[in-house]
Amino acid sequence: MRLPESQVAVLNAASATDEQTIEQLAEELGIKPETVTGAVFDLRDDGLVSVSETVEETVELTDEGEEYAEEGLPEVRLFRAALDVGDGDSIPMGQVIGASSLAGPQVDIALSNFARKGYGRIDSGELVPDADASPDGDEEAAALSALLDGESVDGDVLDQLESRNLVVRHESTIRSVLLTDEGVDALMMGVEAAETVSRLTPEMLTSGEWQDVEFTEYNVEADAPVVQGGKKHILRQTADRVKDVLVGMGFSEMEGPHADADFWINDCLFMPQDHPARTHWDRFALDVPPMEDIPEDLIERVRSAHLEGVGDDGDGYHSPWSEDFARAIALRGHTTSLSMRYLSGHEVGELEPPQRYFSVEKVYRNDTLDPTHLLEFYQIEGWVMAEDLSVRDLMGTFEEFYSHFGITDIQFKPHYNPYTEPSFELFGRHPETGELIEIGNSGMFREEVLRPLGVECDVMAWGLALERLLMLMYGFDDIRDVHGTLCDLDLLRETEVIR
Ligand code: PHE
Repeated sequence: MRLPESQVAVLNAASATDEQTIEQLAEELGIKPETVTGAVFDLRDDGLVSVSETVEETVELTDEGEEYAEEGLPEVRLFRAALDVGDGDSIPMGQVIGASSLAGPQVDIALSNFARKGYGRIDSGELVPDADASPDGDEEAAALSALLDGESVDGDVLDQLESRNLVVRHESTIRSVLLTDEGVDALMMGVEAAETVSRLTPEMLTSGEWQDVEFTEYNVEADAPVVQGGKKHILRQTADRVKDVLVGMGFSEMEGPHADADFWINDCLFMPQDHPARTHWDRFALDVPPMEDIPEDLIERVRSAHLEGVGDDGDGYHSPWSEDFARAIALRGHTTSLSMRYLSGHEVGELEPPQRYFSVEKVYRNDTLDPTHLLEFYQIEGWVMAEDLSVRDLMGTFEEFYSHFGITDIQFKPHYNPYTEPSFELFGRHPETGELIEIGNSGMFREEVLRPLGVECDVMAWGLALERLLMLMYGFDDIRDVHGTLCDLDLLRETEVIR
């Protein structure tokens, strides 16, 4: 017969005639009592041993009990002192106490037990010892010294000692083990220790070997290294959520080049070519050939809008307009370039109102890096094309959009953009600092933008900063916490975007 190692050991150590306790077996075998207990129960389940249980009470002296067992109970010491200093009459208390060498709380203990146990009485500050009393018959004192010598003591006096906190009682179950007849037979036939394995294999299952082996126990409480798996960056997670929300609001997604012709980035937006934002220190110009693929008629209409304006009362900039300048390539400073491409019909053909489009894409600006500015960031671009739009539609759209992210305190401030009229900046309140922070820019596209594109109805549009939305959602106040070498890894690891 094959059995786990600990069971083999216990079986060999157990006797058919003399009961042994688990503690005795553990000591004899040099294994932990818990292990022996486990083995004994398994052996009993297999009928190889029998187990009998008795409940045993053990009594232990407390520190105080031990002290009194050695030096005498306080009341006894008081009585002896009273006999020493007096002649059986009443003696002033202070005198007896002084002679007793009792101190601190022991004085009170002595006094409160003195009369109870018949050693005398206490009368207006005087101690009157009882001449017939004798500490030799003190049951409590006798019990304490018996316990100190490891002898057992009768119940009533134990209750008294327990109430004085001089002893504590414990109950424990003592298990005694005897070999059964089957156990004796098994030993005669020979019992071997089974192999211990830590992994169950398919071979062990098919051969049936698993029945004879002992499996090592798992220590489920062992420390294990924390595994930080890869996960999507919270910015990406939030971008995905923004897309879901906008798709849910009926928008379609725009796509387009990160490096684009200035024509789409600025000229279509009625940005004068001498605008400060178009100078070399504000844009990331690329040293690549100019863009060829721009519809000629559109170029003509945009040039004309810049030079002469549109409509009867329109007025252009009258400054020179260079086609080469418009075809030069730079990294886009906003994704409104995509809106221009789509509104012009260049991407998906002529669009009939109503239409709703968005993108959540990267833009590039030659800004100075600080807690709220990055050189590249994500813009949530969007526009709605319809007949008769008003500023209320714009505000309502933002309120609906931001409410999906738990942001309800949105403020609007009049603003200026060369391409929208009216224009509004959007502000939201930072959850930690309470500060109003700018979260976007918006407006209704001007005639000078829409006419050359061939759009005849109203278009409201916006560019919102994804990183700023994140700041409002998660309360961090430095954008570099989520970006770049200074990023807060714990924040990135622990923040989950609720979908
Ligand atoms: N392009 C603007 C910006 O980057 C945002 C905007 C888009 C404003 C469309 C109005 C209309 O700030």
